[in-house]
Parts: sequence; C-alpha cells; structure tokens
Amino acid sequence: MDRTAKIKGRGKDKNVIIFSDGVGWHTSELETCLHLFGVKTKILNLSSLNIFIDCTKQNFVKRNFSMNPICCFVRGIEGGSLEQITRRLAILHHLKFLGVPVINSGKGIENSVDKCMTSFILRMHDIPTPDCWALEDKSSSLGLINRLIDKGRKLVIKPIFGSQGTNVTLIEKKIKNQKDLEEKLNFTNGVYYIQEFIGPQGYSSRDYRVFVVGSNVIAAMERKGQGWIHNVARGGVCKKLLPNDSMKTLAIESTRAVGLEVAGVDIIEDKKCRSGYQVLEVNGVPAWKGLQDISGVNISDTIVKFILSKMNRV
Ligand SMILES: Nc1ncnc2c1ncn2[C@@H]1O[C@H](COP(=O)(O)OP(=O)(O)O)[C@@H](O)[C@H]1O
Ligand SMILES: [Mg+2]
Repeated sequence: MDRTAKIKGRGKDKNVIIFSDGVGWHTSELETCLHLFGVKTKILNLSSLNIFIDCTKQNFVKRNFSMNPICCFVRGIEGGSLEQITRRLAILHHLKFLGVPVINSGKGIENSVDKCMTSFILRMHDIPTPDCWALEDKSSSLGLINRLIDKGRKLVIKPIFGSQGTNVTLIEKKIKNQKDLEEKLNFTNGVYYIQEFIGPQGYSSRDYRVFVVGSNVIAAMERKGQGWIHNVARGGVCKKLLPNDSMKTLAIESTRAVGLEVAGVDIIEDKKCRSGYQVLEVNGVPAWKGLQDISGVNISDTIVKFILSKMNRV
C-alpha cells in the first residue's frame, strides 16, 4: 500500500487528543489547524483520565477517550501534589506502553521538567551546558557555594522546575551563614540547584530561544531583558533570529538527548566555549505564541504536520 493510500485508509479515524489543563490560544490554534486537516480533536485534562491496569489499548482508549487517537499532544500538565503529578506522568508512560504515540513522551517531559536531570543528560552527551550542582543538605550547599565563590565563580541558583525567570537568583558574594542561605533562597523547596553564571562577554546581555520540531529548528528569537534574566514573562523583548549552524545543532542535539520531539531550547553565548554557546535549559512543554508572532513562522501548523506524520508510524 502506498503512503497516500495508507493515509486515506485511515481517514475515518483521524483523531488527536490534546492534553491541557485549560483552553487557551495554543490549544485553539492546534485545534483549528488539525480541523483544517480533517482531524477530530478532544481536549482533556490528564487529571480526568482513569488508570485501570487491564493493559489493553482498546480498553484504555474506550474508557478515557471515546475516540481512537493517532497521537496525544501534551500542551499542559496541571500543577498538583507530588502524587497527582506522578500519576499524570504515569498516564503518559502507560500510553507509550499501549502503543499510543505521545508528543512529548512522559520520559522526555520528566527529563526536561527537572533542571538537574537536564543538566546531567546534556553533560552526558557532551553538549555544552554550564557546570551545575544539586544538593539538599543546607550546610553542604552553603560550604559549596562559598568555596565556588572563593574560586572566583559566579553562580545562579534557581528552582529546579521552570518558573519563567521567577526566583532565578545570582550569587556573587559569599553567603554568611545557614540563616542567610535560607532567607536568600527561600524558594528552593529543599533543593539547591546551583548553576555557573554565564555573564555577557563584550556584548549586552541576551539569550536565545530556539524552537525544535522533530529534527529541525523551525524558529528562533533573541530575548533581551532589563538585566540578565531574559524570559518574556520577566519583560524580555524579543527579536526574530536566524540561528546559525552551531545554535541549530545544539538545539537539535539537546532536544534529542532529553528525549523530546518538540522543544524550546534556551541558549546563551559563551565565547569560552568551542561552540560559542551553552545550553541553559530545555523546555518540554514550550509556549510558542510570542515566537510565532515574531518569526512569521506558523509554528502551530508545523507542529500539526509533525503530529500527522505519526499517522504512518502507528
Ligand atoms: N547560568 C546562567 N547564566 C546566565 N544567565 C542565566 C543562567 N541561568 C538562567 N539565566 C537567565 O535566566 C533565564 C531563566 O532561566 P532558566 O534556566 O531558563 O529558567 P526558567 O525555567 O525560569 O526559564 C534564562 O533565560 C537566562 O536569561
Ligand atoms: Mg527558560
């Protein structure tokens, strides 16, 4: 059977589930694009799905979806208790076991949601990323921070879960004592994720968001905040960017390394590095509204075409 015939043959049940905790611009865009391709959609909050461990795809799909999806796309996972998040991620893992394609996979989302894990995986793959340490013990954290500062290093301490730039804290001076540590870094929830600060080198501070779909960089932008934190949510101003080959390679390799298919990769210049750049973090549930506006690239449409390409693989 040729490719077109295969697609036509499956025409009757072209369904895509979008996992999201709300209906907003991104879900509406995806739905509109999917409908244009004749695909039916359903938006579901992962919290509403039930796990019964009978382990058949048919039963899972019947119970939870009332349609047979060619793919599930994760647009958002609602915040909740550790138990709730664990169960929601488990659903993504279950779907993989049952043979339902999920973009992004539970594994990829787990790896990228945890900045420690991302740093570790990037380093394992020889992808340039700042040095990083992750500790829980307060006294050890204090000792390490002060030893690093003594060696002339500047440090960024941030929440291990993405916070759109909130609480991302620069440490340039030694911290006096444990009380001071607790006060300065009261957002850590008991995990001190410490990353080497990459300061601007001969240019004003900026960073880059590079968007990957499959094995391609499809759009990118430069972000420039008032200080050194460039998230759009923190007032970063965006400019369209045509990424060079180094940036593209880094973004694609990082996406693959953490197990993602659609990703927003944060990159910063570092002249000390052979590639000229370092990867700061990889976002597995990235937003793209701002980037779509500025780049002129129809990112929603590109994602939808990528989702539909899954059709030939199930
Ligand atoms: N190690 C660092 N060196 C220089 N700038 C950094 C560093 N870490 C974070 N930043 C700045 O802070 C922003 C937010 O940090 P990031 O790690 O992307 O976390 P978030 O999940 O909050 O976006 C980055 O986009 C960058 O502008
Ligand atoms: Mg970021």
